[in-house]
Amino acid sequence: MSEKFEGAVSILQALSALLVFLIGLGILAVAVMYIIDVTQTSQTVRRNFPVVGRFRYLFEHLGEFFRQYFFALDREEMPFNRAQRSWVYRAAKGVDNTVAFGSTLNLTPTGTPIFVNCPYPTLDEDAAPTSPVTIGPFAREPYEAKSVFNISAMSYGALSRPAVLALSNGARMAGIWLNTGEGGVSPWHLEGGADIVYQIGTAKYGVRDDNGNIDDEKLRTLAAESQVKMIELKLSQGAKPGKGGILPGEKVTAEIAGIRHIPEGEASISPNRHPEINSASDLLDTINHLREVSGLPVGFKSVIGAYGWLDELFEEILERGIESAPDFITVDSGDGGTGAAPMSLIDNVGLPIRESLPLVVDRLKHYGLRERIRVISSGKLLNPTDAAWALCVGADFVNSARGFMFALGCIQALQCNKNTCPTGITTHDRKLQRGLVPADKAERVKRYADTMNKEIGVIAHSCGVPEPRRLRRYHCRIVQDDCRSVPLDELYPDVAGAVPVTNS
Ligand SMILES: Cc1cc2nc3c(=O)[nH]c(=O)nc-3n(C[C@H](O)[C@H](O)[C@H](O)COP(=O)(O)O)c2cc1C
Repeated sequence: MSEKFEGAVSILQALSALLVFLIGLGILAVAVMYIIDVTQTSQTVRRNFPVVGRFRYLFEHLGEFFRQYFFALDREEMPFNRAQRSWVYRAAKGVDNTVAFGSTLNLTPTGTPIFVNCPYPTLDEDAAPTSPVTIGPFAREPYEAKSVFNISAMSYGALSRPAVLALSNGARMAGIWLNTGEGGVSPWHLEGGADIVYQIGTAKYGVRDDNGNIDDEKLRTLAAESQVKMIELKLSQGAKPGKGGILPGEKVTAEIAGIRHIPEGEASISPNRHPEINSASDLLDTINHLREVSGLPVGFKSVIGAYGWLDELFEEILERGIESAPDFITVDSGDGGTGAAPMSLIDNVGLPIRESLPLVVDRLKHYGLRERIRVISSGKLLNPTDAAWALCVGADFVNSARGFMFALGCIQALQCNKNTCPTGITTHDRKLQRGLVPADKAERVKRYADTMNKEIGVIAHSCGVPEPRRLRRYHCRIVQDDCRSVPLDELYPDVAGAVPVTNS
């Protein structure tokens, strides 16, 4: 008994000695930090408030993760609020997506869309499947696109391997296309078996020669891959117009360096423009060359700022003949997303889609090119009402990047430009990727796409048309400064000659 007692006492003594040692170590650490803080000259807060000042940086970092859970209201966060995100999460999980009691959306702010329900909505049995749309009638292999809603450009590099795998499998299951982004076609894009839109950025990753020009032979080989259905020439994206793609050095792994033909571990920065495209003529020449070599429909992606160049482009198309036209234009919003961009460009350069989409559609109509050139729209169109608005304005398709990131489990931690994405979507850290199981997330991608297409249909039926592509401008009203709404067809009248005066 006394032996046991003595044993217990000596354990307690050892523990208390350890405790005293740890406390001493803690005091020593605080003292060292104190001296470092008061003597360093680069951070004012730490110099004025030694040790305590360090918590500011910790809390600032943690705040990115936690404010959405504790402090933010349902409709107040940016870039996406909780209501928008939760809708995607629930759609992707396939759980009940109805809400109770009443809307939490304030319907009075200027710009709010309100759809015009009709007294006799489309009966379920009269609802029609969404009609497919042919893109590129003059290409050797036109593409028949079935889904209104598709996956926007995000490169392998910006995204992790499991994320791309989940997207490609989910896209195949949902029957939607997957845009590769500017980082080239990786084996993971192809593995799922989905239709692929291959994006050519300013660095021409995937088809570049040693000087950064397009290598026709490489393009031919890539286009011969049966899954590759269209080519998108990227002029700009909303988050960074006038700036090339940026892939931080930490994300340039050996494999990505191999796919892109660039040095491993070094930041990969694309030219800020296609050096060979400096006019409407150059643009049409490049588009026609790509289409001739690949045999595929070719279009371009751009965020709209100045718009006089569109008139020049459309006039030149009419001179050359409509076969020469791009097969589609992807209009990206000035507030689009990215893996990494300077804040000045991400915030304040390029028109938002609410302004640019009607502008582009109306110009196409004015030049009689609306049927020839398909319009794809992107930029925060991740809930059914956003997509239905775009269809009412005149888009043929809606693309989403961040919507599909939410379907993959993104929590909007805003870490895409580092290698620290906590959900494994935009990191190449294997430990963080472990949580993202492609088979499970592919199902979510499919369910999200299916639910989007279905609920856009629900809005269409409420407006009295049998399918989403029959939505028109008069089906959507926009709230004005005086809180009263005006129909889109009054805001943007559907007549030739209504095109605003050009700028350039
Ligand atoms: C992580 C990430 C990577 C992206 N990479 C590309 C790219 O390679 N090429 C491109 O044209 N756009 C890229 N984008 C922009 C998207 O394709 C899209 O145009 C933009 O985010 C707007 O759509 P969203 O609001 O649905 O995200 C990227 C966006 C994100 C979030």
